[in-house]
Amino acid sequence: MIAVRIEKPEGFEGIEGLVYEDAPDPQPSIGDALVQVRAASFTPTELTWPLFTDRAGHDRAPLIPAHEGSGVVVALGYGAAGVSVGDEVYGLIDGYRDGWAAEYVAIEARSLAPKPTSVDFVEAAAIPQAGLTSWQALFDHGHLESGQTLVVHGAGGGVGSIAVELARWAGAHVIGTGRASARQRVLEVGADDFVDVERDDWGTAVGQVDLVYDAIGGDVLARSPAIVKPGGALVSVMAPPQTDRDDIRTVHFVRDPSGAQLRAITRLVDEGTVRPHVGAVYPLAHAREAFMAKSTEHIPGKVVLTP
Ligand SMILES: NC(=O)c1ccc[n+]([C@@H]2O[C@H](COP(=O)([O-])OP(=O)(O)OC[C@H]3O[C@@H](n4cnc5c(N)ncnc54)[C@H](OP(=O)(O)O)[C@@H]3O)[C@@H](O)[C@H]2O)c1
Repeated sequence: MIAVRIEKPEGFEGIEGLVYEDAPDPQPSIGDALVQVRAASFTPTELTWPLFTDRAGHDRAPLIPAHEGSGVVVALGYGAAGVSVGDEVYGLIDGYRDGWAAEYVAIEARSLAPKPTSVDFVEAAAIPQAGLTSWQALFDHGHLESGQTLVVHGAGGGVGSIAVELARWAGAHVIGTGRASARQRVLEVGADDFVDVERDDWGTAVGQVDLVYDAIGGDVLARSPAIVKPGGALVSVMAPPQTDRDDIRTVHFVRDPSGAQLRAITRLVDEGTVRPHVGAVYPLAHAREAFMAKSTEHIPGKVVLTP
């Protein structure tokens, strides 16, 4: 098959190492489905993640990036359950396996869910990573409840946009943050308020909240413990929060693939509560340009690749 692969990170965040080339056809292992890829998506920083070995520590380069995508099941490995050949599916792959930037991907069947019927393959590919990361941040780790106030740092991005929608669905009051240029987009996605975190006084503008969900990191994360109410929580997908406070919970986590949670998200997409946020679409052959554009051009939402 044809795939995008990378030997090891080099140059700007590894992006210059991406090569569009022939690769071995993936074989579905026990519990896997083989999916013909219709669309794939990625996180701009994923080439910097420590995923160039498998879980046993063996070098697995060259690897295929793009942890999420959509497509059609064309074969099943022994014991694969919950999907059938011909199903239209989407999903998030274990980051230690080859991803979706290819014509075919072998993925654990339990990581897949039926593609929402209300969106096409390109839109569906934009959902799993952002949807599952935000679902797990808000509900598994943040314990968000109706009536609480939440800050989403980076609310104009792929992860943050879906977080705003999920939190509104859960009955929270949502303050989205980002650069001033993201204001209109964040309010359109559904945030109740927007705060520009490039202003020095952003902490005062936010006030005290029950939960902070951070998808920016750096100085924004460092200043965030101060805006959490006693008994509240700070959840970051960027780095472990640092604080002396013992009256708040702090969590840093890496998202897990989950077909079960993705099924719940499928229902929210089909009822219009969660919408895909596709900022740009590139042919798979132009994956390098796509990674570079998403990393440097402030493209809102997700960038999608089509084989
Ligand atoms: N731990 C996990 O499991 C996990 C899973 C998924 C993603 N992530 C991480 O989450 C982050 C967000 O992912 P994404 O796909 O949503 O990326 P994204 O689409 O680029 O979104 C990031 C958003 O934050 C904004 N932003 C970044 N730095 C900022 C700053 N200093 N001040 C104000 N706004 C800033 C960006 O604005 P501009 O575009 O204008 O810069 C963008 O709107 C990534 O770093 C990724 O590595 C972690």
